[in-house]
Amino acid sequence: MENIKIVDNMVLKNALTKLRDKNLKSSQVRKQIEIIAKILLIEALKNENPIYAEVETPLAKGSFEALEEDKYVIVPILRAGLPMLNGCLEVLPEAKAGFLAIKRDEETLKSTLFYERLPDLNGKTVIIVDPMVATGGSLEYAISVIKKHNPEKIISLNIVASPEGIRNISKFKDVLFYIGQIDKELNDKGYIIPGIGDAGDRAFNT
Ligand code: PRP
Ligand code: URA
Repeated sequence: MENIKIVDNMVLKNALTKLRDKNLKSSQVRKQIEIIAKILLIEALKNENPIYAEVETPLAKGSFEALEEDKYVIVPILRAGLPMLNGCLEVLPEAKAGFLAIKRDEETLKSTLFYERLPDLNGKTVIIVDPMVATGGSLEYAISVIKKHNPEKIISLNIVASPEGIRNISKFKDVLFYIGQIDKELNDKGYIIPGIGDAGDRAFNT
């Protein structure tokens, strides 16, 4: 599955190990999610085509490689995607943001879209951010909504996935997935084991 990349980075692993600790304070949960999002984003964009910016350094003028930052639209899946949005916007401050509120039912594990607020995605690179791919249902839903808006490219950044979630998203051959780690399994309530627990609750102290 060439379009699904597990990002092998020791700084990411260090942050994810901290994030797994159930005693981590909410502020630190958000912080580690932000750090991991930055690493995933940097990996995802490392081979992007550059534009050239005319810049005057303190000593000379020159033309230098740069990213067309406003070509990127970061789309967090609420709630747990929000700290990832913050991390991505620190790396790409001129990127745009769009929002999808998707909630999975705790009994049926089926996802529902509650709110969609997206800028024009035509010709843009959309970067979906959500820490967890458990059944994969929420991400699947987000991708299908975004595809309707004809972006040029879709990238998904995710911190922890289950094998089942990976199987579910692998049908999207035209989406590039950058994942922190794949954990062992889902439990009978649809939580990733060992995972990080409920990402939204932990990030927002609820
Ligand atoms: C969590 C998580 C993902 C989803 C993953 O969100 O942030 O969006 O579950 O599960 P899935 O792959 O089985 O769909 P949740 O619906 O709990 O909402 P929250 O972020 O508001 O807590
Ligand atoms: N959503 C979470 O926040 N955590 C899981 O383990 C699964 C879904």
